[in-house]
Amino acid sequence: MGIRLISAASHLPKGRLTNFDLEKMVETSDEWIQQRTGLISRTIAEDETITEMAIEAGKKCLADLNQETIDKIKILIVTSASYLQVVPHVSASIVEPLGLNRDILAFDLNAGCTSYIYAMDIVEKYLKETDNYALVVASDKLSDYVDYTDRGTCILFGDGAAATLWSYTEKAEYYSINQTITNPDVLYREGKYVHMNGAEVFKFAVGTLPGLIEDVCEKGDVNVEDVDLFLLHQANGRIIESVARKFRLEDERFPVRYQNIGNTSSPSIPILMTQMLEENVLQKTENLILAGFGAGLSLGVILLKGNGQYVVK
Ligand code: UT7
Repeated sequence: MGIRLISAASHLPKGRLTNFDLEKMVETSDEWIQQRTGLISRTIAEDETITEMAIEAGKKCLADLNQETIDKIKILIVTSASYLQVVPHVSASIVEPLGLNRDILAFDLNAGCTSYIYAMDIVEKYLKETDNYALVVASDKLSDYVDYTDRGTCILFGDGAAATLWSYTEKAEYYSINQTITNPDVLYREGKYVHMNGAEVFKFAVGTLPGLIEDVCEKGDVNVEDVDLFLLHQANGRIIESVARKFRLEDERFPVRYQNIGNTSSPSIPILMTQMLEENVLQKTENLILAGFGAGLSLGVILLKGNGQYVVK
């Protein structure tokens, strides 16, 4: 028993911050940034809020759906690590703009960059054996909280949003493993700014992700080699390459598509999903891994088995 993807869409703001812009702001270079991260530029929301980005992504995701489907959306989760305001919650603010009905469970979820993965776990349990639909909208604007004099963080983050609509299916299978480790000193926001010990987060991700991927595959009785696609949090291309090397699998199965977007935090995985749909890759995927990690420290890995043929759009 599992879930299937009905629709996905992302919204990337028009503002752009290039490596050359950053060279003028901090002591860094285009060469260093490209070598250490693979990044060329980042999308920046400027005046757009996370609520506005969430609405844009949500509208695109729901655009081709009929009213009968919209009426079946009974849960809306907005994930973010960069809420400007806590009350009212963003999810409540976007129910009406998205044309959703009032009989909906709508709430926000923050677990740093792992938020989207944890939201998926809730959705899978909520949808089980129902004919309801679930909308997950990830929207983050880290540029509100980045110190543009701190070269250790400002080179990494970009802004964006993505929405995915899911329903239950008895044909696919869903497995997950989550971990939360209390470590408030590695990645945190204090006052206005995000502080990050990038090297520590890097080591944490590279050290723990492969083991959890193996564990979730064992749970789902799938060999790691039989996973067609690994959609990992687009935090840093080198983290993803390192995981691919550990399994001795081709880079193509570990797409890195954030070079001109940046690390967007919670939307990074659903943005990548929309890119994989556009490239006609997700539709052909039988076994799919989604994995997020970040502040907390938090980690979540999902195996969608038999996924490909059940991607509807
Ligand atoms: O999405 C949430 C989770 N976050 C992440 O997953 C972030 C993971 N971490 C990273 O992506 C990387 O750690 C960074 C890109 C943030 C940093 O790259 P790094 O290869 O880990 O560099 P580092 O922090 O170990 O620093 C290496 C050197 C240091 O100089 P010394 O001490 O060796 O002289 C830094 O001061 O590079 C220096 N440095 C820079 N130099 C030029 C740090 N940032 C920069 C910079 N430009 N922007």
